[in-house]
Amino acid sequence: MHILGVSCYYHDAAAALLRDGQLVAAAEEERFSRVKHDFDFPKLAIQFCLQQARIEAKDLDYVVFYERPFRKLDRLLASILQTYPQSWKVFRESMIGWMLDKLWIASTLQSELGISREKILFSDHHLSHAASAFLCSPFQEAAILTVDGVGEWLTAACGVGRDTQIQFTKQIEFPHSLGLLYSAFTAFLGFEVNEGEYKVMGMAPYGTPRYVDKVWKLVKQNDDGSFSLDMDYFCFHYSTDRMYSRKFIELFGEPRPAETPFFTESTGYPKYFGQKAPDYLAQCRANEHYADIAASIQRVTEDLLVGMARNLHKETGLKKLCIAGGVGLNSVANGRILRESGFDELFIQPAAGDSGGALGAALWVYHSVLGKPRSFVMDHAYWGEEHGAAEISEYLRSENIPYHEAACTDELLDRVTQNLMQGKVVGWYQGRFEWGPRALGNRSILADPRGPEMKDIVNSKIKFREPYRPFAPSVLAEAAATYFELDGFAHHYPLRYMLYVTPVKAEHQATLPAITHVDGSARVQTVFREQSPLYYGLIERFGQATGVPVLLNTSFNLRGEPIVTTPANACSTFLRSQMDCLVLGNFLIEK
Ligand SMILES: [Fe+2]
Repeated sequence: MHILGVSCYYHDAAAALLRDGQLVAAAEEERFSRVKHDFDFPKLAIQFCLQQARIEAKDLDYVVFYERPFRKLDRLLASILQTYPQSWKVFRESMIGWMLDKLWIASTLQSELGISREKILFSDHHLSHAASAFLCSPFQEAAILTVDGVGEWLTAACGVGRDTQIQFTKQIEFPHSLGLLYSAFTAFLGFEVNEGEYKVMGMAPYGTPRYVDKVWKLVKQNDDGSFSLDMDYFCFHYSTDRMYSRKFIELFGEPRPAETPFFTESTGYPKYFGQKAPDYLAQCRANEHYADIAASIQRVTEDLLVGMARNLHKETGLKKLCIAGGVGLNSVANGRILRESGFDELFIQPAAGDSGGALGAALWVYHSVLGKPRSFVMDHAYWGEEHGAAEISEYLRSENIPYHEAACTDELLDRVTQNLMQGKVVGWYQGRFEWGPRALGNRSILADPRGPEMKDIVNSKIKFREPYRPFAPSVLAEAAATYFELDGFAHHYPLRYMLYVTPVKAEHQATLPAITHVDGSARVQTVFREQSPLYYGLIERFGQATGVPVLLNTSFNLRGEPIVTTPANACSTFLRSQMDCLVLGNFLIEK
């Protein structure tokens, strides 16, 4: 039985395909269309899923959309009515989109795939989130927490999963939204909403959470863990272009000018920011104020999530927790939930945001609707497209790119290790690309984490990103607890997907300066031989040569671009950056 899950039209569009309950393929549309956060109908991702399964659309038993468009429209109309006349512009602008495509998704699926209407099903947005975590977790029974910006009406839900069924016990509705609260601060701090949330999280450790009391004026948490926003501080419920109100500005001061470089005295000031201005120190101080605000919203978000999880633990008495929804990607908060909420173990899958809804919707149909037993656990993220050796060598030859083909894996690993030890930055392209926003060793840029200057080198050669954003480490699973504070949870699945932030052990912070954040933490990825044999082999070889089985791993893309998909994308990125070495399968290209 083949079930295709589809998510699109809001955040990242994606498709996922199950065969008899086993995931065959899952990918976000942006990887194929090359449009970052592409939310359009995921035509190319669907095509890929069908090809990977070697089937045609007519072979699909069901196609399931990850949310209910009419219910979403219902929410939109209700909030427009409540906030009229401020909301007239939202009404006008959103109606265009709704009338053009959103409401007609069933017809679009029918015509794009040539399938009958009876095969098309709809799931609820937060149920898709919940299913995307629980139904591919290793747990037969677990509490579930979903938190995002907004689905149809829900912005958060608590519940319980048992075997194939999911029951929500508590739900929070729009406009009270933790995701939108965080996004309002993302916009206030000068970053793009749905893109800059990671930047707020990275900025936070450079500040002091001195404004938490002010943030608590905006949001209130009740004894049962639920929360509500004071809507006087926000505009997102009636405006398409403003997240926060005048009253918000009266409380926090003027917003940080959009997309201006952020730096303080402790972040450093990279060359690609240009010459330091004469008032550099005054700018640093101004930015410290914004870092304090970032620290404050991050702290309150964590406290709210820990509060919700703690209540859920108390109410259910369960030991395991599944988390999904965009807020589930806040890896700092996840680390605290694990430590402070009372749960022994968490499960989060790598595409915790809306793209993951495609997977969740398909799992929900197979297990919860059709009642089929569970047999699939997501233990790796490599569900995307692969381009094999023949295709790679043909591309390199056609473009006259000189390369060396390693005779065997040993030679490949030795040469790459040599490059890394010489301080070179290596593009590492292997196998199927990752599901979700993180590169986990198949589409990665790698470097030696031991050099204090490596962070700046990777930034100034390739990433050109803000100096305060940390790089993450990949570590052999067996060695993880040696370097990081992982008392008893080194085997947890979120670590495979870089979804916990945890302290670097004090004695190793000096050994690993390039991946240790300013507060001594790191967003760790544990690597297992079974799921990632080649990447594991490389880190192991690097460990044998240096005594440290850890690599700096960042996503293989240039700033603002989606992660590379094809050998052509990888070569183009290599040639447009100052990366020293590119490895495509067994082929090495050196500058
Ligand atoms: Fe969502």
